[in-house]
Amino acid sequence: MSTNYRLRAAYLYFARPTPILPDQWSRQVLSSLYPQLNLDAVRIVGRMVGALPTPAQVDSNMAAEGYDEAVFRWNRRDVTDSTGQPITLVEVYEAPLPVAVPLDASDMRTPPFTRRDLMAGALAGVGGGLAMGLLAMLVGLFDRSGAMSVWAPLNQIASAILGPDVVGPQFNFTTALVGSLFHFGLSALLGMAFALIYHGVLRLPRRLGAPVAAGAIYGLVIFFLADLLLPMLAPGMAFAAKPGFIAGHMVFGLVIGIVYSRLRPNFSGLLVVLASLLFLGAGVVVTSLNLFMPVQASEQAVGVDSLFNLMMGIATVIFLLVQAALVYAALQFRRKPGDDEDGPPIHGNNTLEIIWTTVPAIIVIIISFLSYQTFVAERAFAKTDMVVEVTGQQFFWTFYYPEEDITVQNELVVPIGRPVQYRLRATDVLHAFWVPDFRIKRDAMPDRVTDTRATASKIGEYAIVCAELCGAGHAQMRGTIKVVSAADFEAWVQEQQSKTVDANDPIAYGRSVFQKAGCTTCHTLTDAGGAGQIGPDLNQIGVVAATRVAGQTAAEYIRTSIVKPGEYLAPQCPMGACPANVMLPTFGTSLSEAELTALVTYLSSQK
Ligand code: CUA
Repeated sequence: MSTNYRLRAAYLYFARPTPILPDQWSRQVLSSLYPQLNLDAVRIVGRMVGALPTPAQVDSNMAAEGYDEAVFRWNRRDVTDSTGQPITLVEVYEAPLPVAVPLDASDMRTPPFTRRDLMAGALAGVGGGLAMGLLAMLVGLFDRSGAMSVWAPLNQIASAILGPDVVGPQFNFTTALVGSLFHFGLSALLGMAFALIYHGVLRLPRRLGAPVAAGAIYGLVIFFLADLLLPMLAPGMAFAAKPGFIAGHMVFGLVIGIVYSRLRPNFSGLLVVLASLLFLGAGVVVTSLNLFMPVQASEQAVGVDSLFNLMMGIATVIFLLVQAALVYAALQFRRKPGDDEDGPPIHGNNTLEIIWTTVPAIIVIIISFLSYQTFVAERAFAKTDMVVEVTGQQFFWTFYYPEEDITVQNELVVPIGRPVQYRLRATDVLHAFWVPDFRIKRDAMPDRVTDTRATASKIGEYAIVCAELCGAGHAQMRGTIKVVSAADFEAWVQEQQSKTVDANDPIAYGRSVFQKAGCTTCHTLTDAGGAGQIGPDLNQIGVVAATRVAGQTAAEYIRTSIVKPGEYLAPQCPMGACPANVMLPTFGTSLSEAELTALVTYLSSQK
């Protein structure tokens, strides 16, 4: 390890006689060990002893010398002098230090973890808890529903102080007490745990961005507690971690770090400020992310979003840690004026490698588990589900309700609160059925039926988007999904079922065939509501068709054009000259003779 600590004093213990006075001999030993070091600023003490000291003896000697453990740390080394005699060298360092001195201090001692550290951590935690409590009360002023999950009890304290008319729901002493104990107790415990890990276990010097570590540790602990542990223990309660919740706790953790750092001296104030800005900024960003998410219009959307938020939260934490380390390293280890040396040779770090292998592995395992759960929950098909058969074709959607025997195009209507199975297929190429507000998306393929499932949870109109590039009209392949109440759905079904077409009226019947076969997608025909821009405009086809081929009636020309689409090419299409034929050649077989006749009659009547 190479450090920037300033060597303040060196104590050398000699168990055998020295050639000259111990202090002078010490100076010579040090000069040979550190030829570049200016020894004028170092206090050098040589001592003759009966036997070389043990680490415990060194500790007690240094304490007796009056080195404040918050400012100094020492490193004990066994070396030999130029005569080959073993000596013990104790280097006393002061940190932080403005001048870089390359030292090889492999056994840097930090001051022992004391009860004072534990107290400082606990106090910092309670300080953070208080901040959180105040924040919760503030939120209570705006959140009248009291739906802020674990914050609700704190809202109730606020409501007790300010009156139920000002804040949230009814006051309940037990929940308020439990909520306060939860926050203050937990934060004190976490503050202590933070102090213990940071200072006692990792033995990090106090100035290395403790607030960053505190915020990250605290945020992550609370995050997993709220998103994993509590939902398992109390499945009925709404603990799901929201981005705002995570951000709040990160700020909270930051408060722990700042208070802790204030209680322990020797912290870099700039680092604290930088870290707090970083976390506050992150909180704002992460919280506002929710603004960019579409409406949650299905029950399945909640699980998908919670998973997304979890992953986004983890990614944000990692991003911030990496960026913080990057900024810190860029500032702290930049080349100083006149420093032309090579960097210190650093060879790996087992602890770091273990940490950055296990932590991502655990995260990935947790995410796969939760992803699987979300996936299974979305696809919990049941016999009681309503069924809608969805057919994608260039470039429109057809929806068939088998139970009600209703077919509609592009506009799907579903009742709220009822699970709906969507069975997807395509007649031509790949399409994808995507309802962003429902958080469902699945491919629709020819020759194969795929399925997805959603339970609408919000009345309104939402977009259906084709999410697979399927040809020239892909961008226009959009529909709407209308979520209505059960009563409105019933009324809609009645209305659709009464819309039977009279098969004896060739015009009405032909119009319905034109619409059902999807002709409107490619052709413009005002009478049938068609506005397609791909094939020829059919508004005056009854007149135009009679002029195309000598000796052919309009009806003959139209029939041939439907059954053998490549036979004749119309000169003009809405987008310019008509391209080579792209119309499906299958209408001659997919339409019945009655349908074909009605369609030809209907089109011939368009004048
Ligand atoms: Cu269908 Cu894109």
